[in-house]
Amino acid sequence: MKNYIVALDGPAGSGKSTIAKIIAKDFNLTYLDTGAMYRMVALYTLQNNINIKDSKTIIESLPKINMDIVNDSFILNGVDVSKEIRTPEVTKIVSPAAAIKEVRIKLVDLQREISKGKKVILDGRDIGTVVFPNADVKIFLVASPEERAKRRVKDYLSKGITEDFKTVLADIIERDLIDSSRKESPLKKAHDAIEIDSSFMNIQECVYSIETIIYSIIGE
Ligand code: DC
Repeated sequence: MKNYIVALDGPAGSGKSTIAKIIAKDFNLTYLDTGAMYRMVALYTLQNNINIKDSKTIIESLPKINMDIVNDSFILNGVDVSKEIRTPEVTKIVSPAAAIKEVRIKLVDLQREISKGKKVILDGRDIGTVVFPNADVKIFLVASPEERAKRRVKDYLSKGITEDFKTVLADIIERDLIDSSRKESPLKKAHDAIEIDSSFMNIQECVYSIETIIYSIIGE
């Protein structure tokens, strides 16, 4: 079977990563969580006391930020930071980091490199519009901000982190705004992407509808 690319884009908390992981397993695809890569840049700024608004220093630091993805683990300069990149502290500052053009250039190159010669599903914001505009399958997954905040609170709880609903909702609305209004590769549905609203769907229903689409296009 030929290599192919599934682009799964959508706003924060729409369920992309949960769903992408299941589909990757079912279809034997490599899964690339591109949001985790932006999170590693944000974590680097925290670790090195760099103000997130200081884009000049962040850009100068880029050559010192080495990231690796080994199986499901995210390695930043040799250290496994899979847990650290999911903390609310990183979540709060990641959107401004992802808005920096030079950061995006570096990470998009890396995403293309990692995907080369593979059957792959990538989740992010700009996969179908910028990273792989010729992706074989493009899905744009959305859900209401309230539903997404509810899911995030639950997700944090499962990791032992207590965050209150209103704070998470405000954070999601703010991130949506930054991600969709930024100049560089804003969060936007590709003209040829298929939109799925997961607000009233459970995970299995979402997976089923996306797998049906992949099957109908790729035939796997
Ligand atoms: O999906 P996530 O919450 O882990 O993404 C973290 C941040 O990275 C989010 O603010 C949007 C940004 N991002 C991006 O700009 N482009 C991507 N391809 C993936 C994530």
